Amino acid sequence: MRQTTKLFAYLCTIQPLNFTFMDSQYFSTLRELLTRNRSYRRFDSSKMVTECQLTEIVDLTRLCASGRNLQPLKYRIVSTEAECNAIFPALKWAGYYTTWDGPSENERPTAYIVQCLDTQLANGCLCDDGLHLEAITLGATALGLNACIIKSFNSEIVTSSLSIDARYKPIYVVALGYGNEEIKLVDTDGSTDADIRYYHNENGIHTVPKRTLSEIIIK
Ligand SMILES: Cc1cc2nc3c(=O)[nH]c(=O)nc-3n(C[C@H](O)[C@H](O)[C@H](O)COP(=O)(O)O)c2cc1C
Repeated sequence: MRQTTKLFAYLCTIQPLNFTFMDSQYFSTLRELLTRNRSYRRFDSSKMVTECQLTEIVDLTRLCASGRNLQPLKYRIVSTEAECNAIFPALKWAGYYTTWDGPSENERPTAYIVQCLDTQLANGCLCDDGLHLEAITLGATALGLNACIIKSFNSEIVTSSLSIDARYKPIYVVALGYGNEEIKLVDTDGSTDADIRYYHNENGIHTVPKRTLSEIIIK
């Protein structure tokens, strides 16, 4: 962790960088990370995620913008097999796959990060939660991990099985592990009523439609 603190101190001294768009290696790296940063729901349950990896990932959230700079989000790291098993039944997977109950035993995530609102600091967080979730999943992707953001979960089970103090309200769970599935992005047909539901294509690959650029730019 000392290294992380040093990195944070270094980053705090960073001055604005003057790039032209075409020169920017950062842009292509970011685009590559965002492309790889898919919602994985099948993992290799034999590959563990370390507490250290999870801590480094949570550390990224401190660098995010925060409404009124309140920083009301706190995190519970879950990495032991016992705790992973305890919260798994609380999670709802892939709502569009009505006949799939979620990952089988050997496909389960091997870690979780539970995002909580510290109700002693605020009763809402504007969009801090989404900013943090993107930092968490991008950070995981950069470390060679895969993730899935989960909003649909049983809060009581999560709170009680992890003994989370009532002060902290779980608002999202991020499932993490080493992904074990192929995922493909495809453009929608560009129409406003395009079907945006993910599906298994003819080869059984999880396929995720994304609206086209021309559709999302308002003219
Ligand atoms: C706010 C939010 C809530 C989500 N909740 C769930 C969830 O409860 N269960 C789940 O399986 N996936 C959930 N997801 C994942 C989405 O289904 C996924 O982002 C979407 O299908 C697009 O796939 P992609 O992330 O690979 O682009 C959530 C994603 C977001 C951003």
